[in-house]
Amino acid sequence: MEIFLDTGLVSELKEVADLGIIDGVTTNPSLIAKSGRDRDAVILEMAELVNGPISGEVISTEANQMIEEGKKIAALHPNMVIKLPLTMDGIKACSWFSKNKIKTNVTLCFSPNQALLAAKAGATYISPFVGRLDDIGHDGIELIRQIRKIYDIYGYKTKILSASIRHPEHVRLSALAGAHVGTMPLKVVKDLFSHPLTKLGLEQFLKDFENSKSK
Ligand code: E4P
Repeated sequence: MEIFLDTGLVSELKEVADLGIIDGVTTNPSLIAKSGRDRDAVILEMAELVNGPISGEVISTEANQMIEEGKKIAALHPNMVIKLPLTMDGIKACSWFSKNKIKTNVTLCFSPNQALLAAKAGATYISPFVGRLDDIGHDGIELIRQIRKIYDIYGYKTKILSASIRHPEHVRLSALAGAHVGTMPLKVVKDLFSHPLTKLGLEQFLKDFENSKSK
């Protein structure tokens, strides 16, 4: 499974870009707002740090305006992906971008039927929001499973991008459910490294090595 960093902060990407495990980046208007910076400036800087897909989300809500806004995002860098909300207008714009060979990420997906629509519109990625579904007492991972099943039955090429990931368990379960990508905040990326036995084991190795030197 590919790992994308979900952030609006270039500084966060810089912290992990050199690890060689970050395959791309997703942003959304809330994350960009937190940065206090201009969206296009942020995603362009991100594209210089990671050689992979960078999702920039449109603010427009009407299809033709989404297309015009998305064209400008696409012109920023060859790795740009146009992020569109799962509305009728968003799907209409997605179909236009698909016909024009521009990559898309259809976001705010909460049902298998919505994912079916995105695939039919030729979306490059569909973003089911696992954490937000869990928040309201639904099963976010089950949504990933069902989308994967539908896409496999019909051979849709749209990649499942598990989004709204809140903790490492969401990452493990997304991978097992067949998500192609998981996008996660910096804290979750860091948490993936942690295991108490790794820490203890390393401490013991180093202690034993130091003790052997004094013999
Ligand atoms: C990514 O594409 C989404 O915008 C993001 O994962 C949403 O996460 P949240 O539900 O934690 O805001």
